Amino acid sequence: MSTLPESETVEMLTAILGAIDEGIHVVDAQGQTIMYNHIAARLDGLTQEEVLGKPLLEVFPSLDANSSTLLKVIKTGKPLYHQSQRYTNWRGVQVETINTTLPVKVGERLVGAVEVAKDIKKMRELSEQLVDLQVQVQGNRQKPVKSRVSDQVTYQFDDILTVNDEMKRLKRMAMRASQTSSPILIYGETGTGKELLVQSVHQASPRKNRPFIAQNCAALPASLLEGILFGTVKGGFTGAEDRPGLFEVANGGTLFLDEINSMPGELQAKLLRVLQDGQVRRVGGTNPIQVDIRVIAATNEEPEKVLESGALRADLYYRLHVVSFTLPPLRDRREDIPLLTNHFIAKYNRLFELKVRGLHSQVEDWFFTYQWPGNIRELEHMIEAAMNLVEGDRIEQEDLPPSFITRMEGQVERDKMEQDKGIAHVTMTGTLREVLHNTEKNLIMSAMNETNGNVLQAAKRLGIPRQTLQYKLSQLKEE
Ligand SMILES: Nc1ncnc2c1ncn2[C@@H]1O[C@H](COP(=O)(O)OP(=O)(O)OP(=O)(O)O)[C@@H](O)[C@H]1O
Ligand SMILES: [Mg+2]
Repeated sequence: MSTLPESETVEMLTAILGAIDEGIHVVDAQGQTIMYNHIAARLDGLTQEEVLGKPLLEVFPSLDANSSTLLKVIKTGKPLYHQSQRYTNWRGVQVETINTTLPVKVGERLVGAVEVAKDIKKMRELSEQLVDLQVQVQGNRQKPVKSRVSDQVTYQFDDILTVNDEMKRLKRMAMRASQTSSPILIYGETGTGKELLVQSVHQASPRKNRPFIAQNCAALPASLLEGILFGTVKGGFTGAEDRPGLFEVANGGTLFLDEINSMPGELQAKLLRVLQDGQVRRVGGTNPIQVDIRVIAATNEEPEKVLESGALRADLYYRLHVVSFTLPPLRDRREDIPLLTNHFIAKYNRLFELKVRGLHSQVEDWFFTYQWPGNIRELEHMIEAAMNLVEGDRIEQEDLPPSFITRMEGQVERDKMEQDKGIAHVTMTGTLREVLHNTEKNLIMSAMNETNGNVLQAAKRLGIPRQTLQYKLSQLKEE
């Protein structure tokens, strides 16, 4: 692993241990500490000197061979992942960590164990502050909210812009579903408008004057997420306080659980129980609390895939799947690109006090053929970036990010090669329909070829509207 002389390797290792944010504690096979960084020392409330070179149980007399994770790993040779720990250290400070403890082996021989401890106290405090703020906001919201403070605070169905048939159908279905309290599962790639849809459902529902709370399940470690969602009871486990969870805070309203596939399995089971009987039990508590919540969950990976990988429990999936929506990616609804482009240009005209009227036709072609992996959010960011640079009343190529330009220029080259191949392969056999289709394809490819991929010029040459040509090109691409 290292090509350095041993002394330098040790120095390097010491520097690394001193620089990282996690506590590191290494013991040898006899349970004697051989490495202990300053973060570990801070967490334990000790100095490095007090621990280094000493047997673990001598420094931590309250532990024994079973309760010490390091000693347990030495005994079993098996790793322990993501164990929550909460304790009061030598200086009487409450410590909360998530630990991973791994055996260290040389060949087959166990020579020690290493523990990596992540301090999550700050994260807990911040997430609890967020819940407190939610409580305050909800308290102030008891009266119906008449006007929207800014057009980004809450979304409504009218904000979902589309001319795509599938999207229009989804919108209609979601409007109907907003009248009930059934759980909803939403799938869509990143940036396809999941949050927009969820907020619209809430705003159109009878719950609109009650809380709307969103929690990203990937944002917090399991042990924190559980307390934040379900609440905690004092003394339930060392140092816990009486706190309501988001289920209680959002009572009467809508709880949006984003990236549900990142929620650990045992919490998914707990969530399923709440969905089934409407009762929440705080962590460490026994009394059930009745809540009336509409749960909307989202995943940005295909439900079939997360089911197969086990990231989403099947029983929860069937409960959530009562109403489900799949938001198509932008590349599958290209007819929305002009509409959304104009919408975002208008938005940044307002914000930046500009008078941009649209896109240069080359940019328009690029927008039309690009795959948009980041979907509508990517389109918006691209326009925002261009609106910072634009000089005339149209967004030009050079207003776009250089990486995008290089990519699209490469794309035009590749398309041309494809088209050349296409022309060589046209045959005049088959049904009338096939021959006509091939002839049309041939003419389109030649026109594109002769105009170096400029859709506007090619359309002129073919005597058809540019939109028609764009549509035909997108169909040819899918063949
Ligand atoms: N149909 C639409 N009309 C207008 N704006 C839209 C539309 N769809 C998405 N947007 C805008 O695109 C951005 C991304 O949408 P949103 O945050 O809802 O996506 P998401 O699916 O939740 O993404 P992620 O998975 O990354 O969280 C937002 O600014 C939203 O307003
Ligand atoms: Mg989102």
